[in-house]
Amino acid sequence: MKPRRRVGVLISGRGSNMMALVEAARAPDYPAEIVCVASNRPAAAGLAWAHEQGIAAHAVDHKAYATREAFEEALHAVLEGQGVEMVACAGFMRLMTPGFVARWAGRMINIHPSLLPLYPGLHTHARAIADGVRIAGCTVHYVVAEMDAGPIIAQGAVPVIDGDTPDSLADRILHLEHVIYPRALALVASGTARLENERVNILSDVNQSGRLISPDVGGSS
Ligand code: GAR
Repeated sequence: MKPRRRVGVLISGRGSNMMALVEAARAPDYPAEIVCVASNRPAAAGLAWAHEQGIAAHAVDHKAYATREAFEEALHAVLEGQGVEMVACAGFMRLMTPGFVARWAGRMINIHPSLLPLYPGLHTHARAIADGVRIAGCTVHYVVAEMDAGPIIAQGAVPVIDGDTPDSLADRILHLEHVIYPRALALVASGTARLENERVNILSDVNQSGRLISPDVGGSS
């Protein structure tokens, strides 16, 4: 078996996506292992959970550093110290400098709760509802210097239902995030997804039959 890629997960809060990655990586044939979790917020609930699971859990409090660069230097040292080969951002809510991104270029991925390139940034669910879109979702992508941009690895879609609130739509999307993030990390860690010329190629047969129609009412075919 190929050696598992050593992954560090960056969080800022509850860490449910990090938990989904950790749970997936418990499978012996999963191509990555989660070797550490780091948070810029020492009180992040996900950090305590990771610690309880016996995973190296590091608080790197951004408020303790005078500059963004100094904070990132400390974060980088933690990741290097754990022998991290790939970084997975999972609700990590700090903007990164181009220098930090360059150090992890092609080795750092992120999940975002929208169908990028629609709705980068915050309040994605409220904005989708305000626009009246019928389909929303989530995206796993490589991190580039521009926020919530970068080559797309995987996306998942859900219907937006009349009466949805930002919270109800966020719940529906979050469930799907927990499905697609472990799958996307596995694709990258196994080499099935390859970054070439700023696009992601999937070196495998893919199921072409999937579709989502929204609203799904009254159709017969
Ligand atoms: C998730 O919905 C994730 O997609 C989003 O923050 C939430 C974190 O939840 N990330 C972003 O908005 C990044 N731009 P979690 O801490 O429970 O994984």
